[in-house]
Amino acid sequence: MSKITILGSVNMDIVITTTRMPRIGETIIGEQIDYFVGGKGANQAVAASRYGASTKFLGKIGEDTFGGKVLQHLSREALDLSAVSREKNMFTGIASIFKLAEDNCITVVPGANGLIDEAYVQQTISELSQGDILLTQLEIPVETIKQALILAKKKGVLTILNPAPYNEIVPELLPYIDILTPNETEFAALIGKEAILEDEIEQVIADWQKKYATRIVVTRGSKGVTFVEKSQVVTIPSNKVSVVDTTGAGDTFNGILAAALGEGADFYEAVCMANNGASLSVQKLGAQTGMPLKSEIEEFMKQQVDSFT
Ligand code: ATP
Ligand code: RIB
Repeated sequence: MSKITILGSVNMDIVITTTRMPRIGETIIGEQIDYFVGGKGANQAVAASRYGASTKFLGKIGEDTFGGKVLQHLSREALDLSAVSREKNMFTGIASIFKLAEDNCITVVPGANGLIDEAYVQQTISELSQGDILLTQLEIPVETIKQALILAKKKGVLTILNPAPYNEIVPELLPYIDILTPNETEFAALIGKEAILEDEIEQVIADWQKKYATRIVVTRGSKGVTFVEKSQVVTIPSNKVSVVDTTGAGDTFNGILAAALGEGADFYEAVCMANNGASLSVQKLGAQTGMPLKSEIEEFMKQQVDSFT
């Protein structure tokens, strides 16, 4: 069983449920407000630990009230938080989320996440060992991500980058990434396009995979996930579920993917687990609320099989 280390952001998500976005200069009345602990790093760490992986989260919070709430919340999960640092005179990252029926819009103000620096990365990543897994994203300073990936690769650690939100540094990072997990929009940005036509995407992914040593798996929302297995492009559809909130679906996918690989699953099995787990997670409001335990994913998969027999 590999240890999973997740380096990344932790935010207080302030979620406003509303029927539409205000126009510039306009005030509208929203329907509901909720506060959830989020941030791509923390979300992925929670997903991995709920799956049952031995998971360490590396990140920074502020000395404000939200910092205390975040710590209290994450302490309820089976997570190693020993390296989480509380920064003086700095606020905890905030994600302002407008939740609409069709999708959500998010603005992140990084706060303490922006203070993850080379010294922090040097100290924390040097503790990783060969065979461990490092999972990270792009919501903290990108130069420190690069440094973390380089250090981890030197140590024989399996590296996974979820390139979200997309940043132009990604091509430069490829030599240090074993597995890259963009969503469709991020994959389009990676190949320099605004969007990819539905009937072309599988071929484009197959062509990309032929050129690069980094393994790619593209998450595609309600359409599921596409990757290349034994030179064949494979799409595993997502499950039809009753969707409440897709915030953090990608994070659930990434956390479970890392955890399942760490447990020794082969790539195909790990992607199936992650795809099923992510489908389960979208049925509750809040990024982490619906993240499943491994036993819940297994039960869900069994129900899918039973419904066909
Ligand atoms: P987010 O930024 O909202 O966290 P993302 O854009 O990174 O998500 P997606 O590709 O939208 O990631 O979704 C990740 C995975 O979540 C999908 O591959 C799928 O398994 C699951 N998923 C997402 N949306 C749905 C949906 N509407 N129904 C079922 N499963 C879904
Ligand atoms: O991926 C979802 C996350 O993105 C939210 O929890 C929010 O904090 C933003 O970082």
